[in-house]
Amino acid sequence: MKFFIDTANLDQIKEANDLGILDGVTTNPSLMAKEGISGEANFLNHYKTICEIVDGDVSAEVIATDFDGMIAEGEKLAALHPNIVVKIPAIKEGIKAIKYLSSKGIKTNCTLIFNVGQALLAAKAGATYVSPFIGRLDDISSDGLQLIEDIVNMFNYYDIATQVLAASIRHTMHIVECLKIGADVATCPLNAILGLLNHPLTDKGLEKFLADYHKLNP
Ligand code: E4P
Repeated sequence: MKFFIDTANLDQIKEANDLGILDGVTTNPSLMAKEGISGEANFLNHYKTICEIVDGDVSAEVIATDFDGMIAEGEKLAALHPNIVVKIPAIKEGIKAIKYLSSKGIKTNCTLIFNVGQALLAAKAGATYVSPFIGRLDDISSDGLQLIEDIVNMFNYYDIATQVLAASIRHTMHIVECLKIGADVATCPLNAILGLLNHPLTDKGLEKFLADYHKLNP
């Protein structure tokens, strides 16, 4: 399973990249706003900076919601760097834009996926990734992980090449469950990735190893 970091924060992106396990980055307009980024030029610069830090796919989301606007934005974003993936919402115009952009060889990530039907239409349009949102489904007492499993099974059954990018991951156990289900990618907040390393027996064991060493090597 590939690991993407789900943030537009450059320090967190660098920290995850320095771990040596990072395969890509996802952003969205809310994450960009959180970093105080506004204006088209600053958005484009920020995406370029992320692409210079990480050697992997970087999702940049369109703001337009009409076909012409989405493809114009998508082509501009894709021209920034070969690793840019144009992120497009799972709406009618979005499916048409994914079809158009993928026919031009531009990678796309269909976002805001909340059911298998949306995932199927995005995949048929040629999306590189579909992003089902786990946490937001869990928030409304629905089962986000079940949706990941259903889409993984559907894509396997029909031999669909589109990758399942598990999004809206809120904590470490979401990542562990995505691993078991067979998601292609998990895009995660930094603390959820670092949480994979947390184990009291690791800390306790290391403390004892070092204490034993220092007894004989004061
Ligand atoms: C990433 O592609 C999504 O936009 C993101 O994971 C959404 O996460 P949230 O539901 O925690 O905002």
